[in-house]
Amino acid sequence: MYASFEGRVLIIGYGSVARAALLLILRHIAVSPGRVTVLTRNPIDAALQKELGVQTITATVTPENYQQILDDQLGEGDILLHLTAGISSYDLIAYCLSHGICYMDASLEEWPGVVHGEKGDYRARCDYYNRMRVRSLDSNDASRRSTAFIANGANPGLVSYFLKAGLLDIARDTGVPANPHTREEWAALAEMLQVKVVHVSERDTQRSVTSRTKGVFRNTWSPEGLYGEAVLPAEVGWGTHEKELPKDAKLHDTGTGSAIGILRPGCTVQARSWVPLTGPLLGMVISHNETLAFADYYTVRNDAGEVVYRPTCHYVYYPADDALASLREVVASNFERPRETELLIDDIVSDGGTDELGVLIAGHAKNAYWIGTSLTIEEARKVGMQVNATSLQVAAGILAGMVWIIEHPHEGIIEADDVDHVRALAIAAPYLGTIKKVYTDWTPLAHLDTSIVPRGDRDLDDPWQFKNIYVP
Ligand SMILES: NC(=O)c1ccc[n+]([C@@H]2O[C@H](COP(=O)([O-])OP(=O)(O)OC[C@H]3O[C@@H](n4cnc5c(N)ncnc54)[C@H](O)[C@@H]3O)[C@@H](O)[C@H]2O)c1
Repeated sequence: MYASFEGRVLIIGYGSVARAALLLILRHIAVSPGRVTVLTRNPIDAALQKELGVQTITATVTPENYQQILDDQLGEGDILLHLTAGISSYDLIAYCLSHGICYMDASLEEWPGVVHGEKGDYRARCDYYNRMRVRSLDSNDASRRSTAFIANGANPGLVSYFLKAGLLDIARDTGVPANPHTREEWAALAEMLQVKVVHVSERDTQRSVTSRTKGVFRNTWSPEGLYGEAVLPAEVGWGTHEKELPKDAKLHDTGTGSAIGILRPGCTVQARSWVPLTGPLLGMVISHNETLAFADYYTVRNDAGEVVYRPTCHYVYYPADDALASLREVVASNFERPRETELLIDDIVSDGGTDELGVLIAGHAKNAYWIGTSLTIEEARKVGMQVNATSLQVAAGILAGMVWIIEHPHEGIIEADDVDHVRALAIAAPYLGTIKKVYTDWTPLAHLDTSIVPRGDRDLDDPWQFKNIYVP
């Protein structure tokens, strides 16, 4: 057991992630199952409930009833684990912080249909604003403080731990002395290593035994969640080495100004990256909390407060083939919300299908380094049925986060960059398959044929310009 907890735990949602997370929590945290309640709108199989010994409630949480539900289920010192793609994280966090309840989610979510900003104001739809809004809930009143660990799963989540481990590996291999502890010291290390780019790069090769039916949106984690984030504007933490802002991009005029929004849905914005499993990768720049958090965490300012260093940070996602095909239908239908969805779990074929997810840290003296998890469906199923490679990776990050919350219950709003990455990885690693750590000589200019691609479209002097990575 990594920790013990005597309070109550309420898990809202029982989808792909919660199923895997519950198994790991009951296995590694000494908490009485009778003190754990799962509340979800889809009824939970009675046999499963009996086997796990947890309490279950079937209910739909709404803006009208969430306070009453939380009043009934939780009190000071308890934990709320929010794992849905349809309840406002902001509202739940505000409630928890004002009632001394610890909180964690795996992504910042909103009530269905809620869109911030004026109609047509794309910048206000960016996750950049959502993250700033949630972070503004943090209180300096230490006496009333509980911990709200936001956006902690695999990505966001584990990738923050991999990034720190990767920076230390590169420092070791290039002879740069490194012993960072504070945010400023970590950012200074990234600057000293001359890291220009941090990609969260992911390739998911899991597939179903059955063929997808046209019009059915499939994915290996919440199809609703993927649709929701895929139609948001693409966002990129904007590095100080960049020479040229992409067409359609806008800087933010509030907050830290660390990111740009490309004012098109992320599922239509493509970028080049690299993963060990398949080599060069063309994926979607879907807006994600972790890359916005990296951009703030790894910013260096001079004494006058001016930004002197920041890497360019964004997600490059190549999801399961069925999810990609589903997204192409969404684009073709002018982004209409899918009517039918299918979560791929038990029907995934046992053929070595893998979720490979990590960070590509690039632009330094050894070109590029990838570090992350490569987990097959067979490895994931050793934990239990109703688990796939994707959900187990997320659950491993959640387990590490739950342990951290139990050990640090009064920290206010926390992101994965703020916690001890060594301990978090030690807790998560047994569920991550192979942890790959590889240098590559790949750059976005590799094998460039200027008879196919006009020279003006690329910056031949600096491979790690966003211009070379972005595929407009
Ligand atoms: N950080 C990561 O690496 C990562 C990866 C995958 C998913 N996620 C996030 O984890 C969360 C859960 O994802 P998932 O794949 O398990 O989702 P899912 O769609 O498989 O399951 C969601 C669950 O929430 C329930 N639910 C939805 N709205 C509800 C409401 N109003 N009231 C009660 N129950 C409700 C559904 O019935 C379902 O049980 C999402 O926020 C998702 O974005 C994070």
